[in-house]
Amino acid sequence: MNDTNNKNLIIRLFNVSKRFNGKLALKDITLDIEQGEFIFISGPSGAGKSTLLKVLYLAEKVSEGQILIDGMNLARISSSKLPVLRRRFGMVFQDFKLIPNRTVYENVALVLEAAGEKSSYIKKKVMQVLRTTGMEKKIKALPPTLSGGEQQRVAVARAVVGEPSIILADEPTGSLDSKSAQAILDFLMEYHKKGATVLVASHNLHLLESTVRGRNIEINEGIIKRTATML
Ligand SMILES: Nc1ncnc2c1ncn2[C@@H]1O[C@H](COP(=O)(O)OP(=O)(O)O)[C@@H](O)[C@H]1O
Ligand SMILES: [Mg+2]
Repeated sequence: MNDTNNKNLIIRLFNVSKRFNGKLALKDITLDIEQGEFIFISGPSGAGKSTLLKVLYLAEKVSEGQILIDGMNLARISSSKLPVLRRRFGMVFQDFKLIPNRTVYENVALVLEAAGEKSSYIKKKVMQVLRTTGMEKKIKALPPTLSGGEQQRVAVARAVVGEPSIILADEPTGSLDSKSAQAILDFLMEYHKKGATVLVASHNLHLLESTVRGRNIEINEGIIKRTATML
């Protein structure tokens, strides 16, 4: 029996390559990810970690190959369906991508407003997520007035507030001290326990030691060098 038959493969990459100005950032990546997996993507700076997460989020288009998300071929998603698909993802960008002229509260609330949630729910949910990320005292602040670590917490809060089924977190602890980094990681693992598929990219191998059971995918120069199960 084909072993893909009895697994719920939420993310499938088939021979995916991504080229920037002729240079390959991802080279022929074939990878299956099961629903509910915790994946730690490691590798040095420039390895292709961010590019891998961005092609999944459709923030970048692949040059070659195919990506299926829950059976949907990303190459065939119409632009009208893209917002619906994106809502299944929570993405923490390496450079945060917060809206500078919106408050912390508004940055996080926008996700739920776009999803058409009720205002009473939005208020409760946004405050709850900002409390757990330790940002409840800064709800009225504008992102440019925050430290890098604070912006990162807001970016994480925004990524999870919509309870996405897939969380893509690119260096989510890169601007944090080790204690806050652990808190954010624990926070992401809570969502994993609740059933989300979580992909964390980081060049920092120390983080790996403190993550839950899951799979480590090591990439270098756009190639998967090694995969290992973390026990
Ligand atoms: N928008 C872009 N334009 C040109 N080159 C890019 C772009 N994004 C990434 N790259 C290149 O692709 C390679 C992989 O980058 P990236 O995915 O950011 O690596 P990592 O996240 O592992 O540090 C690097 O050589 C980088 O310079
Ligand atoms: Mg990166």
